[in-house]
Parts: sequence; C-alpha cells; structure tokens
Amino acid sequence: MADMTVAYSPSHGLGEEQSIWFKLTPLLNQENPMQVLAALSDKYAGVVPINLKNHRIVLLSEPAYAERVLVTNADNYTKYFDGLRPIFGKSMITIDGALWQKIRAPQQPAFHPHMFEEYFPYLMSAIDSKMARWAKFASTGETIEMVEETWTLAAEMVCKALFDREMPFNPHFVFSQVKTYTDVMNHKSIRLKNVRGELVEMTGEDTAKAMEVWHSIPDTVMGAGILEHRDKTLLKMLEAAEADPNFPEFDHRQVIDEMKQYLWAGTETTALTLAWSLYLLSQHPEAMERIRAEARAVCGDADPEWNQVQQLTYTKMVIQETMRLFPPIWALIRIAAGDDDIQGHKIKAGDKVVILAYVMHHSPKYWTDPEKFDPERFAPERAKKRVKYSYLPFAAGKRACIGGALSQIENTLALVQLLRRFTPEYAGPVPAKIHATVTLCPKGGLPFRIRELS
Ligand code: HEM
Repeated sequence: MADMTVAYSPSHGLGEEQSIWFKLTPLLNQENPMQVLAALSDKYAGVVPINLKNHRIVLLSEPAYAERVLVTNADNYTKYFDGLRPIFGKSMITIDGALWQKIRAPQQPAFHPHMFEEYFPYLMSAIDSKMARWAKFASTGETIEMVEETWTLAAEMVCKALFDREMPFNPHFVFSQVKTYTDVMNHKSIRLKNVRGELVEMTGEDTAKAMEVWHSIPDTVMGAGILEHRDKTLLKMLEAAEADPNFPEFDHRQVIDEMKQYLWAGTETTALTLAWSLYLLSQHPEAMERIRAEARAVCGDADPEWNQVQQLTYTKMVIQETMRLFPPIWALIRIAAGDDDIQGHKIKAGDKVVILAYVMHHSPKYWTDPEKFDPERFAPERAKKRVKYSYLPFAAGKRACIGGALSQIENTLALVQLLRRFTPEYAGPVPAKIHATVTLCPKGGLPFRIRELS
C-alpha cells in the first residue's frame, strides 16, 4: 500500500483542528481539486492512505470498496460529523446504531412515495413564486446568482411541503451565514496561503453570529403562520414523536435539530443540483429544447398534473446526469469502528474512510466518455448495465439519503416549469470551476441572466 503524507498548517481555524475537512484542505485548495483527487486515486488504484500525526485518512474510489463500507460491512463504519455539529446538532444524519434507527423510524413515512402527491401542490406553489421573481429579473435584465435562486426555491419547497409553513426567513441571508461556517476554505490556515493580497480574519465572533442566526430558524419556522393545518406533514410526525411518552430520546431539542437537518441537507444539495443542471443546459441548448418538447408532449400548454410527473423521463435523466457530473455530496466520510479488510487493503480501527463519489462518477472504467454530458446514460436500458455502486449521489445502504426521490421530483418540476417560460443564460466563465467544500459548489458562483420566452 503506498503512503502519502500531506503537510498541513497546525494553526487553529474555523471548525475543529482535528477535522478531516481541515486536513483535506491542502488537497482541496487547488485550481482543480477533483482532478487532483482523481489523479491520486488513479495512481494508487482506488485506495489512497494519507498518514497524519495521530491517525490515517483513507480515500476510496472503487465501487466494490464503497459497497463494503456502505452496505456489506456498514455496521463497522460510523458517521463522521466533527465540525458540523453546530449545523446539525444531534439530528439523525449524525448518529449511529440503534438510536439512529429509532430516530429515523417516525420520519420515514414522510418520504414514502405516496406522500409525494400530497406535497405536489406545495412544490408547484414554490415554483410559481420563483417564476414571479424571474419575470422581474427578465424585465430588468440584471445578473443573478443561480445557487441563491435555487436554494431559495428548495427551502420554500421544504417549508411548504414538509412543514406546512410559509418560508418565514430570508434564505439569502441565512444560507450565507451557514456557508460562512461550512466553507472549509475559510480556515485561517488556508486563507493565509491565499495570495490574494488581503487577509480577512474569520473570528470566533463571526462564527458565533452565523450560528446564532442558524439556531433561531427552526423556532421562526414553527412560529410562522400555518399554511393549511394538514395532518400528514413531516413536522407533525416530528411533533408526534416528541409527544410520545414512550420515546424520551425524541425531545424538543431533537425536533429542532431534525428541522435544521432538513433545512440544510434537504435544500443545499437539491439547489446545487438544479443550479448545475441549468449551467449544463445553458451549454447544451439541444437538451434544453428536448425538455421543453417533452413537457409539451406530456402536459400540452397546461401545468403538469401529479399523474404526469413520472412521464417526464428525459428531464429526470438530465438531473441524474447532472448529479453524476457534479455530485453535491462528493465525499462520504466514515470512521472505522474496528479493523477491516477491503479486498486485501487493511483498514484499522479509527481510520477515517472517505469514499470519493466524484472520482467514481468520472472514472473512464465505469463511464464511456465520462466528461461528456449525456443524459441518455440514464435511459433504463443503459442504466441497467451500470456497475453497481459506481453512481452514488445519494450514498447507498441503510444510511442512504432519505429525500433522494423527493429531490428528483422537486427538480424535475422546477426544470420543466422554469424552462417552459424562461431561458436562463449563463453569464460566467466556461467551464465553470469547482469549489470543494462540504458540498460541491461552483467557484465564484453561477451568474445568469434570465430571458422570458415570447
Ligand atoms: C439532490 C439532492 C440531494 C442529494 C444529492 C443528497 C445527498 C445525500 C447523501 C449523499 C446522503 C448520505 C450522506 C452520508 O452517508 O454521509 C444524504 C443523507 C440525508 N439526506 Fe439527502 N440529498 C439530497 C436531498 C435531500 C432532501 C430533499 C432531503 C429531505 C428533505 C434530504 C435529507 C437527508 C437526510 C435526512 C439524510 C440523512 C439520512 C440518515 O442518516 O438516515 N436529502 N443525502
């Protein structure tokens, strides 16, 4: 097994000194961070051990290795959330074992496919608000930041569909505060390496302020006007678990933390996917036309009905291909509880294991012409031939994303509705560059101008 040693500055920065994100930053703070990781993975045949002072990080990028960690020996690998605790609290995404199972059970019904019909009108209503906003942008011709736009949309969808509330906060402000915290490049040590001429210190005070804003959001949402007093919402399920006398672990703090989890994990990822898909479509106008043609064929001039959503197959394939090229969660991190042997590669208890979804999604071993935007890869016949676990936008195994199917419906509806009325024109440099934080963001954002179709 080849050994890699990465030097890092020991200075204290945002997040925790021992944080894996902190330690990966020398790799990530590159012009093309994903290419660096892909080249390393290629050189070391899918297993890159990085030896640090007290422990080891092992980067994995073979589907069979991902299967071992996420599925067949999943109980040996616990979730890694150091540094992100202030964002997620003790929500289920961060916990393991029997408690995780117990906390997830009462929430699972909110993500059963039969609930999606219930959510459908609220998703459409959030898209309507977005269209009204875009009509204004089209008339002024101003340049907008697409991730801000799609993040607002995703947040409004979660508030309306899952919580039965209007979105009672300013998402641009709130999410920029969250980003202040989750952007690993804000680490002081990394900034010191930036040769931009100016050093802006991130103080403890800034972090505390960012987190104060974030922590106030669940109460703000709960206190907002109830939309329709629906019985079957995720928030109702969370409240019922809190009220259950046989479930003392599910206290009020748990409800608050679960809401924070949905407001971040359930919005930024969906928003990045939609924003990256609009970027890709701006570079592939023929695919944009195909989405419009599909919408016309399925819905005519009317808005989609719930029973038509499954027929918007090409649109969904565009979203799937976007998540292949730009997986919002590009790295899945676990800690080995005990020793393991992954096809001859020794993993020691305490090793931090990082599954590089991005690298697998771009590997010529598993994808023909991997850098090409080709939604047809996800046509059912071709998708069947895919190597299992080579595509992991939602992870796999029991800890897979609870909201994966919902996000694809959200984004299918958003693409169809937005593109039938508007052409979003990308106004940034091509190709757009990646900024790898906890999520896969566009470097410097994705500026767009909106044109309304006549
Ligand atoms: C394109 C959109 C999305 C992507 C790419 C995505 C991706 C992921 C991934 C990769 C994980 C597993 C992380 C890990 O194992 O370390 C995850 C977990 C999770 N996601 Fe998503 N997600 C998306 C949308 C959503 C939505 C819409 C919701 C809910 C409204 C959601 C809620 C969650 C929750 C609660 C978990 C934790 C599940 C558990 O630990 O039991 N996600 N997501």
